[in-house]
Amino acid sequence: MAQQYKIDMNTKAGKRWLNRWIVQRMVYFGIGGWVGLVIGLYPFWRQMPGGFGRWEYAFNWAIPLGVVGGFLYLLASMSRDVARTKNVQAKAQADAASAEAAKTPDQRAAEAAARQAEEAKLRDEMRQQFVGLYLGDSTGMMHGRGHVGGVPQGQHVELAREDASKNIIIFGGTGGGKTSRSINPLLRQLFTQNAGALIFDIKTDFYNEVQALCKMTGRTFKLVGDGGMTLNLFRGCSPELAASYLKSCFLVQGQGSGEGAFWVDSSTEMARHCLNVLNLLRPHQYSIAGLYDIVFDNAARDALIAEGAEKLSEMSDRDQRLFIQSQRYFVNVWNEHD
Ligand SMILES: Nc1ncnc2c1ncn2[C@@H]1O[C@H](COP(=O)(O)OP(=O)(O)O)[C@@H](O)[C@H]1O
Ligand SMILES: [Mg+2]
Repeated sequence: MAQQYKIDMNTKAGKRWLNRWIVQRMVYFGIGGWVGLVIGLYPFWRQMPGGFGRWEYAFNWAIPLGVVGGFLYLLASMSRDVARTKNVQAKAQADAASAEAAKTPDQRAAEAAARQAEEAKLRDEMRQQFVGLYLGDSTGMMHGRGHVGGVPQGQHVELAREDASKNIIIFGGTGGGKTSRSINPLLRQLFTQNAGALIFDIKTDFYNEVQALCKMTGRTFKLVGDGGMTLNLFRGCSPELAASYLKSCFLVQGQGSGEGAFWVDSSTEMARHCLNVLNLLRPHQYSIAGLYDIVFDNAARDALIAEGAEKLSEMSDRDQRLFIQSQRYFVNVWNEHD
């Protein structure tokens, strides 16, 4: 408990404390000692031959008296404050304990039930909204060093709705507590509110923690990839859009300029037509895996196009037009390539 009263001289408040209390106390004690000595020496004082005055003599003694006495007084008053606070805390605890002991079991059960109901109500209310995230109490370290973004010691640091949805980066060495002391508590707060999270588990070691947090907060989660749900990046995209994604991948890799441009353009064109055919004839295979199968398997692709030609009469006008475009591409352009 005594630690609570430690004063951090790196903070502005700590410096102010030093100036106000230590320095002022020394001055008060010094002046008091001086005046006291002057008055106290009056009955005994005889003028010394050298002309050493009573005021000056008292002043010389008042300096060490002020420094030492002021400091000792300060220490004494601090420990008295600590003791007083401790007593108040101890008394409050004792009162609470005796009040608790005086209760009947029925009362206790009723109170526990009321508390639970209150908590459940609070949780329900929280679930309806997203108020923000509580990060912790500031230590004042950056503030003490004069950093412009520093927060004075002992403040609640909270992220309002808007701040919580902006960029946050957490630095720290391995085992420094990034996961257990920052991410998990924040996720837990998210889960108790009307909010969710998209988590990229790159190291694949986070599954159990998310599971535990969900259990704790009564939420559910879905796993995508690596044994969970599949992720079809093409779902809901037109063949044009899906092909443009592929093109972006080529471009990001640094292909697609100079001579490479021709190959990138023709492969995305080919992919677009493959996707178009898949979309019309095998919609459930409209995915990267399905595309792979008919891009690299000429026989499968040709068979699919033959099948489409047979079913042409069953298609709507629009689908017919779309199919014929791709059929022409494969027959007249692609299969004519050397
Ligand atoms: N401030 C802390 N207080 C208590 N234990 C901690 C603290 N920081 C880390 N740990 C412990 O160290 C271990 C590794 O922490 P972790 O959060 O996984 O670190 P990181 O994700 O930064 O590598 C955990 O078992 C955690 O309990
Ligand atoms: Mg970690």
